[in-house]
Amino acid sequence: MDRWENLIYQCQHCTKCDLHRTRNHVVVGVGDRQTDLMFIGEGPGQQEDLTGTPFVGKAGQLLDKMLAAIELDRSQIYITNIVKCRPPMNRDPNEKEKKACLPFLREQVRLIQPKIIVCLGRVAATTIIDPSFKITRQRGQWIERKHYHIMATYHPAALLRDASKKRPAWEDFKSIKEKYKQLKRTK
Ligand code: URA
Repeated sequence: MDRWENLIYQCQHCTKCDLHRTRNHVVVGVGDRQTDLMFIGEGPGQQEDLTGTPFVGKAGQLLDKMLAAIELDRSQIYITNIVKCRPPMNRDPNEKEKKACLPFLREQVRLIQPKIIVCLGRVAATTIIDPSFKITRQRGQWIERKHYHIMATYHPAALLRDASKKRPAWEDFKSIKEKYKQLKRTK
């Protein structure tokens, strides 16, 4: 088994937190494993739990549109979540669940070695960047940690609830496009 196969096997058989009791599918991630651009959401919703693929519900369709607007699609990036199993009723994952699941995300980052990591929403930003991260104030700002360029923007589900967030999110996506153009390796 190589490291990816092992990671997927470990995720699919994971019982480290209670979310495994109610899941239909573990949602590991999707996309290019050699990409320079990784997106991290919160956790699977209903459609994701039913299909095993991240961001396939309404929020995912909006994400696809925003990616298309910066001339990208899913095959060029990697998309995953902080937790790989659906929290019941789409509640936020709790500390115990996040802690149990984070080793999987760390291994994904180690394997992919992206240049750019985009956190989608507060849960990803507070888990990855800083527990006191304020999405409204700090979104769109690039930080560098190790050799990763990291930014958080609004979760697409937040844009569906509040259209006034669409304009700032669009600014963030343009900034992602610029950063990606600067940093992406030529293959
Ligand atoms: N919301 C997320 O954060 N992740 C998904 O995969 C789907 C919706």
